[in-house]
Amino acid sequence: MNKRSILPAIIAAACLLSTAQAEQKPLRFDADKGVRTELVMPNGQTVRYTAYTKLYFATNVEDSTYQYMNLFVPDGATEQSPIFLRTYIGGYMECQAGYPQATDASGRALAEGYVLVIPGSRGRQSTVTRKGKTVYTGRAPKGLLDLKAAIRYLRHFDQQIPGNTERIITDGTSAGGAMSALLGATGNHPSYDPLLRAMGAARERDDVFASVCFCPITDLEHADMAYEWLYGNTLSRQALSETKRQLSAELAAQFPDYIRSLGLKLPDGTQLTADKYLDYIRQLLMESAQEAKDAGAAISDTIGLTFSEQSAFQAPINGGVGMPNRTEASRPMPRGDKPQGEYITSIDLEKYLNYVETTQPLKGVPAFDSYGVDGAVASGENGEFGGADGSDANFTPWSANKTGHPLTNEVQASVHLMNPMHFIGNTQARNASHWYIRHGARDRDTAFPIAINLATKLRNQGRDVNFKLPWNRPHSGDYALNELFRWIKQITQ
Ligand code: DHB
Repeated sequence: MNKRSILPAIIAAACLLSTAQAEQKPLRFDADKGVRTELVMPNGQTVRYTAYTKLYFATNVEDSTYQYMNLFVPDGATEQSPIFLRTYIGGYMECQAGYPQATDASGRALAEGYVLVIPGSRGRQSTVTRKGKTVYTGRAPKGLLDLKAAIRYLRHFDQQIPGNTERIITDGTSAGGAMSALLGATGNHPSYDPLLRAMGAARERDDVFASVCFCPITDLEHADMAYEWLYGNTLSRQALSETKRQLSAELAAQFPDYIRSLGLKLPDGTQLTADKYLDYIRQLLMESAQEAKDAGAAISDTIGLTFSEQSAFQAPINGGVGMPNRTEASRPMPRGDKPQGEYITSIDLEKYLNYVETTQPLKGVPAFDSYGVDGAVASGENGEFGGADGSDANFTPWSANKTGHPLTNEVQASVHLMNPMHFIGNTQARNASHWYIRHGARDRDTAFPIAINLATKLRNQGRDVNFKLPWNRPHSGDYALNELFRWIKQITQ
């Protein structure tokens, strides 16, 4: 089906639905309503700022618990100060507008003198009661629309709010990392505009300058095939039932075509194919381990790495920028007992993937679009693409075909709107110029190729991309803040 031909009709229908049941709130910003507050940072520094809270970013408010943002202006901020937007979305869930935290990127942004925005947003479990009925307010793409509306609000009140709207930097982790990637990729794309207008979002641009994506759970259309292609032969998956093994194999078999269809280029200019992909992963992991080792981390020789006194003389993919923050690693490495050379020379990926997946796998088969496939329970993502009645939905053709729950046009349209990969290099979107993407080297919430494809596609489109699989990192975000904020300083100067 041609998605482009169905999009306008679907979107128009969704607009009508969402305007019918909203509460009217004018878009307002009152500079006199700020409250003076302070935050004490871990290093003892006191950051003084003014807080503006409960700023509704849309005039047709469907869910007043979530559709507003909080804004924090540190003393000394000017029209030139960067604006840092931190979303606390996790698990594609709703989240309320928050407050700066001394220990994460939000507090750090304030301490750096940046204007801070923490929007609320609807999510897959947010509900209101209307005429005695429970209505789910935040199924895809509503959460993203709320974030885009928050960005439009900043531009709408640009004259009244300090900060440079040409220097908006978004940050999020996991599903929030996916949202940050979407904000970075889909700026001003016309497909979202009718939905944003129906919400009563300001008629402004919604592109951003930079996107910080920690472990983005994204490209959900292809995350299942990537997962089985990478992890399908681990010991844990070998122990699955024959039926599951078959499902896993079918999914894995789709990955090579997908990679070919992306037409991604490696740093040496050759095309990234499935055949070359494992080597690409190996190189990224070895670079990451080497960087950690150089910074003094103890690395086990029991998880597949080999060491030598001699360098393998491989040019690093990333140019070895920055150092991981050793103190933040949260699981001790298994201890090896052999003396190690200084250089990491190879990685046995089979062994390493067994180590990452562990004997207690996090994800079933399929990992994401599990609704109804072989009796599996619905995943969070099935809820994200489900209906306003709280139903779950399949969102990939493969799972839909297996379960006999066909993909509706509406779900197909939402899936498209929720995938940043479709908007990178799209002439109707303004992609962020700068990207900071991290996916931990032992994060198994989605497979490595999801983050790698995102970073590679952006690089191929000429974007500035700082990408790593940080060593010994599980699924987490807002770490190595010195490294992150050094990067932000550099791109905003
Ligand atoms: C998140 C984690 C997941 O494993 C997933 O499938 C979706 C979201 C999260 O932490 O946001």
